[in-house]
Amino acid sequence: MTAAHIAPAEGRLGVLLPGLGAVSTTLIAGVELVRKDLAKPIGSLTQLGTIRLGKRTDNRTPLIRDFVPLAAMTDLVFGAWDIFPDTCYQSARKAGVLAVAQLDAVRSELDAIAPWPAAFDPAYVKRLDGPHVKRGATKLALAEQIMADIEGFRPRSGASRLVMVWCGSTESFLRPTAVHASLAAFEAGLRANDPAIAPSMLYAYAALQLGIPFANGAPNLTVDIPALVELANARGAPICGKDFKTGQTLMKTIIAPGLKSRMLGLHGWFSTNILGNRDGEVLDEPSSFRTKEESKLSVLDVILRQDLHPELYGDYAHRVSIHYYPPRGDNKEGWDNIDVFGWLGYPMQIKINFLCRDSILAAPLVLDLALFLDLAKRAGMHGVQEWLSFYFKSPQTAPGLYPEHDLFIQLMKLKNTLRHLRGEELITHLGLEYYD
Ligand SMILES: NC(=O)c1ccc[n+]([C@@H]2O[C@H](COP(=O)([O-])OP(=O)(O)OC[C@H]3O[C@@H](n4cnc5c(N)ncnc54)[C@H](O)[C@@H]3O)[C@@H](O)[C@H]2O)c1
Repeated sequence: MTAAHIAPAEGRLGVLLPGLGAVSTTLIAGVELVRKDLAKPIGSLTQLGTIRLGKRTDNRTPLIRDFVPLAAMTDLVFGAWDIFPDTCYQSARKAGVLAVAQLDAVRSELDAIAPWPAAFDPAYVKRLDGPHVKRGATKLALAEQIMADIEGFRPRSGASRLVMVWCGSTESFLRPTAVHASLAAFEAGLRANDPAIAPSMLYAYAALQLGIPFANGAPNLTVDIPALVELANARGAPICGKDFKTGQTLMKTIIAPGLKSRMLGLHGWFSTNILGNRDGEVLDEPSSFRTKEESKLSVLDVILRQDLHPELYGDYAHRVSIHYYPPRGDNKEGWDNIDVFGWLGYPMQIKINFLCRDSILAAPLVLDLALFLDLAKRAGMHGVQEWLSFYFKSPQTAPGLYPEHDLFIQLMKLKNTLRHLRGEELITHLGLEYYD
């Protein structure tokens, strides 16, 4: 196999973050702490993960970051937008994820990051409103202001390359309409202020127009529309989404493939959460929750394939709820009750109680996505990056293709993509050669 040409990761990589809330500030503070050797980048595949190459007997298992040319954490610079003018330090204090002593250790770096005014409309995030917003007669004018922010950031930060990861709030549920169907229709809609164009789409449009890769960390439609896929391909920008796969859904996509592998049946899966951060407050509003619910519900159907296994999965109940409970802050608690059945149909139960920290789980995903999208761009990849499904609850795929939700298939796909890029043999796990 021949290796792909990958341009070197020279200079700084600018990470652009619409939304400077809990996840973004936990990412930025974490990167600064790791740079100072005050903490470790736990949970990041790009920093800690390894990749096996060749045969098991070859003993070649380099770190992923030594195998593919990724931007170094020391080369990252950050820019962000938010509807509140708080600096990264102030916002991190409000989010309450990291200890004050830890934030104070990198305070000057965090104080230096002040967000640009947001392209925002409370009609799309009903529980939220803020003063730090852009004004413009049309949605196109707002998108152009975002592009101007980006172009101003480039020389100021010294970034030679850029990526954008949406870390803003979850927007109201939107269905794809005619305005999303082509780039021409979308651009007409920008000029006509079409209500089906949400603020997150303005950031994505601005990034893609400039050839900047875009990842969507929320379940919003955003880049998952033909118009922006068309733009991504035309401008040579990689895109991926949607919705970071962190707490309960991460567990679901770890457990469900195991049950299915053993041909154990499922009567029902009841999932509930309590969460007290701003994200929890936004998701307490039905139209934002609807967007999240679609994203959370889809995974089981795809993993279990009730069409192929009606006797095991033909009739299971799947319920998901999120309750806003302020005392818990970012420390979400998720409960799962799983009613399974085994040999001869005998019922059993599995209970999961995950006391997690939402932003601690999400921050390394933003880091990995930024580094992998930058790699993809330098390797000449563009459009939908299905190999990054590993990071998402609702992976974006080609039209008509169902997404892979099984975490282990997703990881294999990711690593085989890296092997493919470097001209290494893909690993099939066949392994007959060891017994020849
Ligand atoms: N933390 C997780 O585990 C996790 C998992 C999956 C998805 N997500 C999603 O990631 C996103 C960020 O989560 P969070 O916990 O940081 O939420 P957060 O509420 O702390 O931060 C979101 C920030 O986005 C800002 N914002 C909203 N609309 C904006 C706009 N149009 N432009 C600029 N800024 C805007 C808000 O003011 C807020 O500061 C949410 O959509 C959430 O659903 C988080």
